[in-house]
Amino acid sequence: MIQNISVIGSGIMGSGIAQALAMGGKGVKLYDVSEESLQKAYSGITKSLSRFVKAGRMTEEEAQEIVANIVAVTTLEEACKDVELVIEAVPENLALKEEGVAGKEEIDKAIRLGLNYPMGPFELADYVGLDTMLFASQGLTEAFGERFRAPQALVKLVEAGHLGKKTGKGFYDYTKEKEGVKR
Ligand SMILES: NC(=O)c1ccc[n+]([C@@H]2O[C@H](COP(=O)([O-])OP(=O)(O)OC[C@H]3O[C@@H](n4cnc5c(N)ncnc54)[C@H](O)[C@@H]3O)[C@@H](O)[C@H]2O)c1
Repeated sequence: MIQNISVIGSGIMGSGIAQALAMGGKGVKLYDVSEESLQKAYSGITKSLSRFVKAGRMTEEEAQEIVANIVAVTTLEEACKDVELVIEAVPENLALKEEGVAGKEEIDKAIRLGLNYPMGPFELADYVGLDTMLFASQGLTEAFGERFRAPQALVKLVEAGHLGKKTGKGFYDYTKEKEGVKR
């Protein structure tokens, strides 16, 4: 079972996701480019939990344990280390808005170069495993609603047994790596 999760972006969505995961007993690394945003997230989460305590829904100790489940990190490298899942909650940007017209290669390249991430979303999904991505998306859909539902392209790849790097094929074809094409 997935236990350690990184949340990239600690704004409204990111802090809410981090809180929900921590309340579910997960270890959460919360990363943001802005320390101010991280601090705001912490105080927002603490305030929200204190409302649970006031309402008699949890004890002060439980609230403290939940806060302790969330560790703020300030580098992406740290954020991506020793976690089984990374959830992105950064603002929409031009590269993402272009998703409807751009191909996966263009989107991955835009994210790598534009946001200075080590991988684009399709590369990351292949790396993590498309079955894991689908599973996470189903969990998030159950918890937070339709906006987290997985796209059909992902469902179809999983149904076809194309689970990313581990099976040799996902959004990209890795069987070609053996012939010298490195991704
Ligand atoms: N707020 C909502 O109700 C809602 C609902 C559905 C979807 N979304 C989507 O979720 C995403 C996040 O929305 P939000 O409302 O949380 O935004 P937000 O502005 O509250 O938070 C975004 C956070 O991302 C951080 N950030 C910016 N660039 C970053 C980077 N390169 N690396 C790490 N952190 C970075 C910012 O500092 C900020 O703290 C958006 O794509 C938005 O469309 C939001």
